Amino acid sequence: MIRSADVRTDSEVRSWEARLNRERPQRREVAAWITSRISAASADSPLVVELACGAGFLAEVLKGQLSGLRHCGFDLSPHLLDFALRRLDGSAGEEGNFCTMHFRCANLVSDDWTAPLVEMGWAGKVDAVVSIQALHDLGDLEQQKHVLEQARSTLRDGGILAYGDLLYDAKNPHSSRYSVEEHEAMLHSCGFSVPDTSLTDCDRQDSDSNGFAVARYGEFGTFACCK
Ligand SMILES: C[S@@+](CC[C@H](N)C(=O)[O-])C[C@H]1O[C@@H](n2cnc3c(N)ncnc32)[C@H](O)[C@@H]1O
Repeated sequence: MIRSADVRTDSEVRSWEARLNRERPQRREVAAWITSRISAASADSPLVVELACGAGFLAEVLKGQLSGLRHCGFDLSPHLLDFALRRLDGSAGEEGNFCTMHFRCANLVSDDWTAPLVEMGWAGKVDAVVSIQALHDLGDLEQQKHVLEQARSTLRDGGILAYGDLLYDAKNPHSSRYSVEEHEAMLHSCGFSVPDTSLTDCDRQDSDSNGFAVARYGEFGTFACCK
């Protein structure tokens, strides 16, 4: 089984992403859910930052659905980013809309990855920060929280964080996968609007008046909340 850190060639990138999609077909529903949260919260031409974007799986879905998307994806792997750039740059969105796709190499945990956003004039103006199947790869709760605090600082007032990640599974324990309750507590401690009453009893939940939403798709928990 090839790991993201070992992927080099286009053929390795394709088989790596194909395996992610084969093992967890709910990734497509999760990507659609994240896209729908941005559509509900933003006007046309949203500014979207993606954490640990890999080869551009979610970026491709966003580009197909969000008119005039302006996207900046960050990842540790230059090979995945190079593939994502060639996959997505320069082609029109699904309805011929012009989209702008940027990709930047960074270690989200140890680098000041928000600096390029300052240079691009995006700091404090971002409509949505998104991520799929990646937060648990960033490390423990403190490390994830550190990245989400930085993410929050890039958002405009009322901007949203929307992500899906693998939840803790007692049958297949993983040191940095967490329960819905732990995600909610982390989001709250980062300063996002999270309701006092937990929504975790609901399998699928439309957003409340603060834009908070949580849903489950197989092993995935999806979360959306406002700055
Ligand atoms: C399971 S993959 C998911 C990739 C992509 N989000 C997708 O769903 O197709 C996890 C990604 O996290 C990236 N990653 C892991 N640790 C990282 C870090 N510290 N900073 C930036 N990216 C990281 C990996 O390079 C990889 O692309």
